[in-house]
Amino acid sequence: MSKKIPKELLQTPKGTHDILPVDAPYWDHVMSVAEHTANFYGFNRIATPHFEKTELFLRTLGETTDIIEKQMYSFRTRGGDSLTLRPEGTASIARAYIQHGMQTLPQPVKLYYAGSFFRHENPQRGRYRELHQFGFEILGEEDVVTDALVIRLMYTILVELGFQNIAVQVNSIGDEESRAAYRKELMVFYRRRFNSLCKDCKRRVKENPLRLLDCKEMFCIQLREEAPQMLKSLSEASKKRFTTLLEFLDDGGIPYFINPYLVRGLDYYTDTVFELFVNCLDGSVSSEENALEDTTPKETPDKPLPIAVAGGGRYDGLIKLLGGKPTPAVGGALGLDRIVMEMKTLNLQFPKKHTPRVFLVQLGPAAKKKTFALLEEFRKAGMPVSESMGKDSIKSQLRIAEKVASSYALILGQKEALDGTVIVREMETGMQETVFLKDVVETVKSKLKGKK
Ligand code: HAM
Repeated sequence: MSKKIPKELLQTPKGTHDILPVDAPYWDHVMSVAEHTANFYGFNRIATPHFEKTELFLRTLGETTDIIEKQMYSFRTRGGDSLTLRPEGTASIARAYIQHGMQTLPQPVKLYYAGSFFRHENPQRGRYRELHQFGFEILGEEDVVTDALVIRLMYTILVELGFQNIAVQVNSIGDEESRAAYRKELMVFYRRRFNSLCKDCKRRVKENPLRLLDCKEMFCIQLREEAPQMLKSLSEASKKRFTTLLEFLDDGGIPYFINPYLVRGLDYYTDTVFELFVNCLDGSVSSEENALEDTTPKETPDKPLPIAVAGGGRYDGLIKLLGGKPTPAVGGALGLDRIVMEMKTLNLQFPKKHTPRVFLVQLGPAAKKKTFALLEEFRKAGMPVSESMGKDSIKSQLRIAEKVASSYALILGQKEALDGTVIVREMETGMQETVFLKDVVETVKSKLKGKK
C-alpha cells in the first residue's frame, strides 16, 4: 500500500509561489517592456549564478543590515565552502565587473538582469522569500545624469505598464565625508535620549545610527522628527549632486518627493537613494516599509499601504570594497512580484498574445502521421496552430477547436490522407473546401489575411 502523502508536501514552501499559466502573460509583458526599455537605453543582459560565496555578501551588504543579520539562506557544500542564495543582485554584478575585467571596456558599462532572489523574511502581502527582480546597473560613470537615467528608466517602465500615480521618493545619504559627520550628529542626538529608544534602536545607536531613521516603532518615529536631518549635513559636493539630480527630474517631467528618512536596507549606498511606488495619490504618504506601528494610516483590506515596487541608488564605494579599482556606479531593481500584484489589483490591460487561429483535426493512423508532418510545415511558415493529436474522435477534436475559438479547422481523414488533400473548414459558417495538402499552408495564410 502506498503511504499517505501529507498535505503540506503539496504546498509551495512558505514565502514562495508558482507563476501559473493564467498569470504568465502578466510576467511576460512586464519582462518584455522592461527588456525593451533597457535595450533602448543601451543596457546589455548579464546573468550571474543564483548562489555566490557567502563572504561576497558579508563584505558588501553591511554587517548590521537585516539581510545579513537574519535573511540569508546560507549553506555549506560537501567540500566545506560556505555559499549563499543571492539576496540581491548588485554585489554579484560588482563581483562580475571585477572578475571579467570590465573596467577595460568603454565606460560606463550598462547591465541588466532578471531572476529570483532569496530573503528569509516574514511573508506578507508583496513580501516573499523567493522574490523576482529586474535590475539595472551603470558602472564606471560618476555623472549624476546616470542617477537620473536609472530613475527615468524605472519610471518609464511603470508608465509603459499603464500605472498612474507613480511616486518617486528620493533622498541623499551623502558621500562618506558627509555621512561620517552626520553619523556623529545622530549619535549625540540619540545618546541623549537613549533610555526612551526601543530595544533595536538602542543597538542601532552603536552599530548603525543611520538605520535609526528607519525604525517602525511609534516613539522612535516621533523622535525622528526632531533628529538632525541628513540633507542639512551634506557636504558641498553632495549637496550639488542632489540639487542637480532634482533638476534632471524636474526637466524630465518625473514627479518626485524628497523623503529625508529614506535610508534603504543596504549599506553600500552613497549619495542618491530612491524608491518608487505606484497607486499612490500622495507620493509623500508613508509606505509599508516606514509605516507607523500604532498610528494612522492603518492598512485595511481594501486600502493597503503602498509598497515599494522598485528601489536603488548610487554605490560609489562598492567595487573598491571588493578590491577593484575605485569605480563609481548606480543602479536599481524593480520588484516583479509586486508589480504583477499591483497590475492585477488595478486590472491593468495589455495586448495579449494571439491564440492560434488554425486547428488540425485528424482521423486514422495515416492521417495522424500526415498531420504530424503538417504541423512542422506551419511552424516553418511561422504560423501558430493548435492540435489535439492524442484524440481520435473527430467530434471531440472539433469541439476543442470551437472552444479555443479557431477560425479554421483543417481536417485530414483516411480518404484525404490517401488523396494528399485536406478539408479546410471555416468554423463560423461551417463552409468547407478541399485543397491539396501541399498548398494548404499558403491557402490558409491568404484566407487569414482577409479575416480580422
Ligand atoms: P531592494 O530595495 O532591496 O534593492 O529591492 C528592490 C525591489 O525588490 C524592492 O523595491 C521590492 O519591490 C522588491 N523586493 C525586495 N524584497 C522583496 C520581497 N521580500 N518580496 C517581494 N519583493 C521584494 C535591491 O535589491 C538593490 N540590489 C537594488 C539596486 C540595484 N541598488 C543598486 N542597484
